[in-house]
Amino acid sequence: MQRVLAIYPGSFDPVTNGHLDLIERGSKMFGRLTVAVLRNDGKAPMFTLAERMEMLRESTGAFPNVEVDSFEGLLVDYARRVGARILLRGIRAVSDYEYELQMAMMNRRLEPGMETIFMLPAEAYSYLSSRLVREIAQLGGAVTGLVPPAVEQRLRERVTQVR
Ligand code: PNS
Repeated sequence: MQRVLAIYPGSFDPVTNGHLDLIERGSKMFGRLTVAVLRNDGKAPMFTLAERMEMLRESTGAFPNVEVDSFEGLLVDYARRVGARILLRGIRAVSDYEYELQMAMMNRRLEPGMETIFMLPAEAYSYLSSRLVREIAQLGGAVTGLVPPAVEQRLRERVTQVR
């Protein structure tokens, strides 16, 4: 699938080593991979869209066929606009499956030509989520090894700003 463009969408608030594991796997499988960050102001993210994109750019610099973009509105509309037919999502555990199935089916209904491809992150990241990383950082715990060092630093700064 060397000429295929795939989109890896998400909130990335913030990017974790689990996301990066998937990005690396996706970058080997597809010709180009666009990490598309949702501008989800409604969810009151910890990091602004610009910060989330910056952290992603910093941590995906080693992958020449990966780029970082943002979108708002329907994912399928964004995918159509950039000419992608493949959506990449990660499934960590059975508990992810129901939500992911619902989203994939709905996206297919909205845009029948759209295919969702699921990949599994490394086992070590099967319990990792941005939500838990934010919670641990907010409560003063260590997130070393769960996120890239630069993200760890930003989390520390954000948490001390808030306190
Ligand atoms: O990292 P997340 O928060 O699990 O990612 C969810 C995301 C961004 C993939 C999903 O919320 C999304 O696609 N939102 C855009 C709006 C949309 O298309 N909604 C219909 C999905 S069926």
